[in-house]
Amino acid sequence: MERWKDGKMKSNFVKIFTAALILIFSSIVGGCIGDSADSGEKSVAVCFPNTTPSWQRNGDSLKKLLEDENFTVNIQFAGDVNQQKSQVAEAIETKPKCLVVGAIDSAAFAETLEKAKECNIPVIAFDRIIMGTDAVSYYASFDNDAIGEGMGLYIEAALNLKSGAGPFNIELFAGGPSDNNAHIFFSQTMKILEPYFRSGQLVCQSGQKDFNSCAVADWNSANARPRIQKILAQNYADKTLNVVLSPNDDIAGVIIDEIQKAGKPPVLISGLDGDPAAYERIKAGLQTFTINKDPDVLTVKCVRMIKAVVEGTQPDINDVSTYNNGVITVPAYLCTPQIIDKTNVK
Ligand code: BGC
Repeated sequence: MERWKDGKMKSNFVKIFTAALILIFSSIVGGCIGDSADSGEKSVAVCFPNTTPSWQRNGDSLKKLLEDENFTVNIQFAGDVNQQKSQVAEAIETKPKCLVVGAIDSAAFAETLEKAKECNIPVIAFDRIIMGTDAVSYYASFDNDAIGEGMGLYIEAALNLKSGAGPFNIELFAGGPSDNNAHIFFSQTMKILEPYFRSGQLVCQSGQKDFNSCAVADWNSANARPRIQKILAQNYADKTLNVVLSPNDDIAGVIIDEIQKAGKPPVLISGLDGDPAAYERIKAGLQTFTINKDPDVLTVKCVRMIKAVVEGTQPDINDVSTYNNGVITVPAYLCTPQIIDKTNVK
């Protein structure tokens, strides 16, 4: 008792008591009120872009498969990175058992996902890796290296480049610079095609061969239109364009449209995603091939991954070395894409 009369002891007690209160308060306000494991509901939040038709297909397929497994699904689509950041932040507030993100900008989510980590919400990067954070638990995608390489190999074989054929005029398009996949696809294709530029078998009349000159901002196909118009007008008034590298089907549609409007014959042109519109163009002889990223193949794998993280078991992964995001190497399951051309289109 005597000790409590001592003013110094009293003030120490007050200090410790106040510090404890601050700690409890800040963990409630700044941190996480009840982590995801606390709620009984099997809830999954999904945040996807709405920029190309393939994202809607992926979203529909993922939602259906998860609902079949009795998950409650909150799926949101965003048109730009700021909208997606708010959607991801809101989704984290609902404390889902798992958060699945198809990032509009691969490098923009490190800060937003800190809160998911604090709340022990496992995050799965879908189709596109998320850079610069250890808050990502797993990555479910297609083999992006194989996609880029596959486009190059198809063009090499179709033009008989290995046997010395050429010269062929080619123009190049790439995806959106803020998406890591776009860089992988382009660099892998160019690894295959570069020797043929050096040998003169491939000629790029516009001279635009580096990623930045070829990139289509945000993968928005409308952004490809003025560039192909200009390329055709400036370089192909009296020359034949033989080949176009298109990074996906949506962009291929716009390029093909402009080639037709310019009264030019069809060219050898690539695509990606397996859009139904691309299959129609392949049948009509307007698009040469697409690389099908069957949504059902990827979403089945992703649902297994979600179930494993929710149940606390080890998900099926087949790659532990490719996807270093600058902070960690994200364990991944990479599905195999499939080339579709006139020989196997249904
Ligand atoms: C995906 C492509 C898709 C593109 C545009 C890329 O990250 O890998 O399949 O066409 O984004 O949405």
